[in-house]
Amino acid sequence: MSGIFVVSNRGPLTFRKERDGALVAAPAGGGLASSLHRILAGSGTTWASVTMGAADREAVTRGLMHEEGLDLVPVVVADDTYRMAYDVVANTTLWYCHHHLFDLPARPRFDRHWWEAWEGYRAYNRAVADAIVARAGDGDAVLVQDYHFSLLGRMLADARPDLRLVHFLHTPFAAPAMFGVLPDVVAAELLDGMAGYAACGFHCHKWEAGFAACYESAGLKPPATFVAPLGPDAGVLEEEAASAAHAAASEALRAEVGGRRIIARADRMEPSKNIVRGMLAFEELLVTHPEWRGQVVHVAFAYPSRQGLAEYLAYGADVEHTAQRINRALGAPAEGWTPIVLSVRDDRARSLAALGLSDVLLVNPVRDGLNLVAKEGPLLNRADGVLVLSREAGAWEELALAGDGALGVNPFDVSGTAETLHAALSMGTAERARRAASLRAAVQGRTSADWWSDVVGAAGAG
Ligand code: F6P
Repeated sequence: MSGIFVVSNRGPLTFRKERDGALVAAPAGGGLASSLHRILAGSGTTWASVTMGAADREAVTRGLMHEEGLDLVPVVVADDTYRMAYDVVANTTLWYCHHHLFDLPARPRFDRHWWEAWEGYRAYNRAVADAIVARAGDGDAVLVQDYHFSLLGRMLADARPDLRLVHFLHTPFAAPAMFGVLPDVVAAELLDGMAGYAACGFHCHKWEAGFAACYESAGLKPPATFVAPLGPDAGVLEEEAASAAHAAASEALRAEVGGRRIIARADRMEPSKNIVRGMLAFEELLVTHPEWRGQVVHVAFAYPSRQGLAEYLAYGADVEHTAQRINRALGAPAEGWTPIVLSVRDDRARSLAALGLSDVLLVNPVRDGLNLVAKEGPLLNRADGVLVLSREAGAWEELALAGDGALGVNPFDVSGTAETLHAALSMGTAERARRAASLRAAVQGRTSADWWSDVVGAAGAG
């Protein structure tokens, strides 16, 4: 009987080594792996993922990479190969390309070091392909997640034509002009790699259209595509919101902001999230509408991500510096008002508390595959909070185009964002309530299980 084989870079378990040599397992971090983990838990599904360092590799050797109710297939990759594939190609080249983050006068640079990394990306895809070829049953549906595996489709289609191959991309897809920045042979290999999949899925129509346009401008026919936005796991969020930790974090945050209004955001520390422009918009709001001074606090959560990348560390420094500068320039310590409260630790209870209490939720990414926070916020919020949402987030199609719940912003327009924050803070209670209800209805219409059933369905399985 054919089954389901899931593939993602980050798996459900990762290990760290303690000083005494003990290996300690931690559950999946990151939005996708934790969502998948909840969906697949106890289902017996086969799930292949890649070792992320020496502790993971040792856990594999010692037989610890194991979880009840799942059939884990760890793919062992050396540190050098992983760094070249994950850091250089996946997260600094493809991530930057699909999110339109290249600083074109200076980056990217496709030099001999980069070409070496490209070989690493190929080897990484090949290692995963070999593991699947060895383990997949006849006719299995292989459901591959994300841009780490752009070459895997062709490798598997050639080696195992019996498999039903689906790719789901959790990022945007670059417009042809940005895709054209990649060297011709790389662009061609990526397009051919993805054409090996029987179907490619996206969170919204805009990224699906970008994908098709890249094939068209190369004179190629794209593979079949589908659109299936991920939804939040409402049950899990409700449980978290009912916990003692949530109550304590909410109480602490209320005390910290001293009864003032809250503009919240919660992101990974990630250049595409546009945290600096969000802070500059808040600064401009305080300058152009000084009546908000002392009345509102921007509570920003930016938890660590991809710390091996210099670009991410530099962006984090920029975020921290910007918050400090604005607080020094505009804060009123004597009145106990700090304009921006920035937290750079991963503290889920505290960030969910901020989503629950906020008057405004700011989600202004430069580009974003979906943005799950834009969907979690309306479910958790207890204050009829207004969602200020970038038109470049995948969630825009469901939360703004299909209804009138969110207020839209152009993520590059700092002054426009400041004015939209002003409109959100000034909105009357009836309109806030109407928009919040419309957002909740839009979000509740789509669960994580719906997303998964669409992905499984695209393989003709389930
Ligand atoms: O949004 C794309 C994505 O790769 C998700 O799939 C993932 O949850 C998130 O970015 C974090 O990525 P990483 O595993 O590199 O921390």
